[in-house]
Amino acid sequence: MDRFIIEGGVRLRGKVSVSGAKNAALPILAATLLADGPCTLQDVPDLYDVRTMIGLLGELGVEAKRRKDGALVTRVVDASPVTASYERVRAMRASICVLGPLVARRGRAKVSMPGGCSIGVRPIDLHLKGLKALGARIPMEAGYVEAEAPRLRGAEIYLGGTAGSTVTGTANVVMAATLAEGRTVIENAACEPEVADLCDFLRAMGAKVKGGGTPRIEIQGVASLHGARHRVIPDRIEAGTFLVAGAITRGEVEVTGARAEHLGAVRDFLQATGAELAVRDGSIAVRASNRPRAVDVATLPYPGFPTDLQAQAMALLAVAEGISVVSERIYPDRFQHVAELNRMGANIRKEGPSAVIQGVLDLSGAPVQATDLRASAGLLLAGLVARGATEVNRVDHIDRGYERIEERLAALGARIVRKPYAGSRASDRG
Ligand code: EPU
Repeated sequence: MDRFIIEGGVRLRGKVSVSGAKNAALPILAATLLADGPCTLQDVPDLYDVRTMIGLLGELGVEAKRRKDGALVTRVVDASPVTASYERVRAMRASICVLGPLVARRGRAKVSMPGGCSIGVRPIDLHLKGLKALGARIPMEAGYVEAEAPRLRGAEIYLGGTAGSTVTGTANVVMAATLAEGRTVIENAACEPEVADLCDFLRAMGAKVKGGGTPRIEIQGVASLHGARHRVIPDRIEAGTFLVAGAITRGEVEVTGARAEHLGAVRDFLQATGAELAVRDGSIAVRASNRPRAVDVATLPYPGFPTDLQAQAMALLAVAEGISVVSERIYPDRFQHVAELNRMGANIRKEGPSAVIQGVLDLSGAPVQATDLRASAGLLLAGLVARGATEVNRVDHIDRGYERIEERLAALGARIVRKPYAGSRASDRG
C-alpha cells in the first residue's frame, strides 16, 4: 500500500479546484440501473470507490465507459443479474444503493448485508423499512437481503431512526419509488445536497420527484425511466478539506467550484476559529494568519456540521488556542484518528461520543496509520502543519475519496510525496 511522506510547515497558497462529489456520484451511478437508455454523467470523480461501483454495475449488466472528455456513459446491456456479492459490499458499503433500483426495475435484488465498519455499526434497517413499506418482501438469507416485488406500490413512509435521517437509505427509497405504482411521500428524508442531486438526476430521467433536499420528498411513480445527462455537484467534503488545509497551515487557499451554500456550517466553524473567508462567484477562499481559536463542534445531519469533516476539524483544533469539544452525533465511534493525532503530540481525550481537545502549540511528525477515509484526511492535514516528517500509511483509504490529493496539495506548495509500497494490496475497506 502506498504511503504519503509529508514535510510540514509550509503555508499553502494558491487555487485548487474541487472534484465532483463522491457521495452524489455513487447513488447516481446506482440509479443508472433504472434507465432504459444511455446516461451521460459529467464530473464523476475518478476514485477507488467510484471504480468499485462501476465494477459492481458491470456485474449487474451495466456497461460504463469514460469518454475522452471525462464524461462517463452508462448503458444497461443485460437486465437479468440481481446479485451484489459480499465481496463487493464488503469493499464498499455504498454498494447497498443498488438495492432500491434493482427491486424496482428488475423485481428482485439479492444484496449482501453490509457489516460494521471502521467508523462503527452502520445498520440498514431504515433502507429495509422503506422498501417494505413500498411492498417489497424482504427475507434475510445467509447474510443476504433478498428483496422481491413484482411491482412496488407508493406509500407514506417516515424514514427516521435514533440518529435522525439516512442519506443512502433516502436514496434507496426514492429510487425505488420512482417506478412504484402511485404516490410515495417520504417524511424525515435526508436533506443532504447529494440526495437533492440524485433527485435532479432522476427528474432528468423522467421521474416525478418533488422536494429533494428537504425533509419531505414526494414521488409519483412512472412506468419507465429514460437515459439522461447530468453533471454531479461539487464535493463539499473535499472542498471543506482544502479549506481546512489553508487554515491549518495559516496560508491562503482558494477552492474553485466550491458551493458556498453547501458549506454553511463549515464556513461558520472556520470563521469561529479565526480564519477569514471570502465567498466569490464560484469559489471560496480562506486566509488565516494566526493560531486558530478553540471552538466546540457537533456533527449533525445536513445542514449541520458534516461528520465527514469531523477528523479534519479535529486536526485544526489540535493546534488551536484553548479547549474544544467535538461531539459526534452521527457515528459515536468515529474517533480512530484520536490516538494517531496524539502520537503526533496532540492532547485529545475521548469522552464517550465526544473528544476534548486541549490545543497544543505544535505537532511533531510521526508515522501514523488510519482506518478510514476521513480519519486519513485528518492525519494528512495534521502532517501539513507538524514539525518534521509525517508518514501517513494506508493511503488507499484516502484514494477512496480524494482524487490525486497529493498532487493538488503539492501544487499549493505542500511538501508531500507518495511512496509506493511494493507487494501488498488494499483490503477490508469500510
Ligand atoms: N442509520 C440507521 N439505520 C439505517 C441507516 C442509517 O440507524 O438504516 C444510522 C447510521 O448508523 C448513522 C445515521 O443513521 O448513525 C446516518 O447514517 P446514513 O445512513 O445517513 O449514512 P450512509 O448513508 O451510510 C452517507 C455517506 C457517509 C456519511 C454519512 C453521514 C455515502 C455513500 N456515504 O452514509 O460518507 O458519513 O452519509 O453523512 O453517501 C464518507 O464519505 O467517508 C462517508 C462515510
